[in-house]
Amino acid sequence: MEFKTIIEPFRIKVVEPIRHTTPAERAVALEAAGYNLFLLKAEDVLIDLLTDSGTGAMSSRQMAGMMLGDESYAGATSFYKFEAAVRDITGFRHVIPTHQGRAAERVLFGSVLEPGEIVLNNTHFDTTRANVEKQQAIARDIPIPEGTHPEVIHPFKGNMDLAALEKLLKEDGPRIRLVMLTVTNNSGGGQPVSMENVRAVSRLCRTHGKPFFFDACRFAENAWFIKQREPGYADRSPLEIAREMFSYADGCTMSAKKDGMANIGGFLALNDENWAQKCKNTLILTEGFITYGGLAGYDLEAIAAGLYEALQEDYLRYRIRSVEYLGEILTQAGIPIVQPTGGHAVYIDAKAFLPDIPPNEYPAWALSLVLYLVGGIRSVEVGTVMFGRQPDGREKPAAMELVRLAFPRRVYTQSHVDYIAEVLLHIQGLRERIQGVRIVEEPPALRHFSARFAPAHGTLIAD
Ligand code: F0G
Repeated sequence: MEFKTIIEPFRIKVVEPIRHTTPAERAVALEAAGYNLFLLKAEDVLIDLLTDSGTGAMSSRQMAGMMLGDESYAGATSFYKFEAAVRDITGFRHVIPTHQGRAAERVLFGSVLEPGEIVLNNTHFDTTRANVEKQQAIARDIPIPEGTHPEVIHPFKGNMDLAALEKLLKEDGPRIRLVMLTVTNNSGGGQPVSMENVRAVSRLCRTHGKPFFFDACRFAENAWFIKQREPGYADRSPLEIAREMFSYADGCTMSAKKDGMANIGGFLALNDENWAQKCKNTLILTEGFITYGGLAGYDLEAIAAGLYEALQEDYLRYRIRSVEYLGEILTQAGIPIVQPTGGHAVYIDAKAFLPDIPPNEYPAWALSLVLYLVGGIRSVEVGTVMFGRQPDGREKPAAMELVRLAFPRRVYTQSHVDYIAEVLLHIQGLRERIQGVRIVEEPPALRHFSARFAPAHGTLIAD
């Protein structure tokens, strides 16, 4: 007999209280934060879905491993455990630890990218794009067309557009330095990339002599989707699937704050000797020696264990199902979300939910503020605030206006999810009264982290 209820595959050993606040208190907190959820104090947040990055709960095994952390500057035992785990899963020869994903990006791009060169990706994450552009290189996104239409159902919406890739490789060949696949495609809705697409991208890159890298932050979730959805993979373990994925590439950047199940950490792993040497030189200059790269020995231990825990089937089943469960409730209620639900997050389609708010009044940003005001829930905008500012300073509406509800790993239970759904259903009743926002102050790059806003029409929710 198989029971249909999927339970959290863990019991809770340590708890951390969360604090209820009133809507009036949250209104004050919002104003003080310049209507930017990144600038709130975390203690003023009830349920924090800002990110799944570094916010997960560690296992007793990881914690035990941390007590073994070898803090030697060079050649620490913890590094060799970390290196062995990364090599075992990815198969890449050189393993370079970094303090998080964007450091791996900066070390890689800072070592190999020249001004005017191009990096292709299904969709660059914001830090990836910013690190490419910092080298005065060009970051180009070529997702499949389905990938930019929230309502379209496709099993692998994170796939790269192969025709576009081939055309660019032929036309712009000499300027293309690197091709990347982001798994899962975070900015495109946490959508997976199929093994078939990985293989085809790899083949095209080989034909044209271009290095092919993964942005592997959520590689385990991607492996789970392949197991569930791609013919021929149902009987393979997530670890076997992950190994096959990596076998088609030349390297990867990784934020271990996601599928590394750690609070901090990342790595760059690659096969090419020459590039590895350049990257190690950059690493020593800014991150640290090659056997710690800005991490403590205990962080390396936590990652070495966490990479395998992220690949466990009962964990992946619970994780992906929790996200899907919220997606189902919202869809049944008629709240538009990116379909099908992604791996680490539900993305509300604010363009469809708030059709009367124009892009220059940032509908997804406004909706994320209302979600906090009404329910104490912190989410993140993935829309025109995050992507609208062009390198030349112009403003261009983003392809999608999304509010991402990202799930920290192993942190929340089903009743938290039920509460989130209830708040959103309540907001659905207010939707005609929700107002846009305007930017009061913004920095030159990555503005969503620190820009300050104000309601464009005096209030977030009209009377
Ligand atoms: N690539 C992807 C696809 C990411 O989602 C992130 C981080 C990074 C790279 C950078 O890694 O934060 O360790 O430096 N994403 C987090 C998020 C911040 O909320 O989606 P990092």
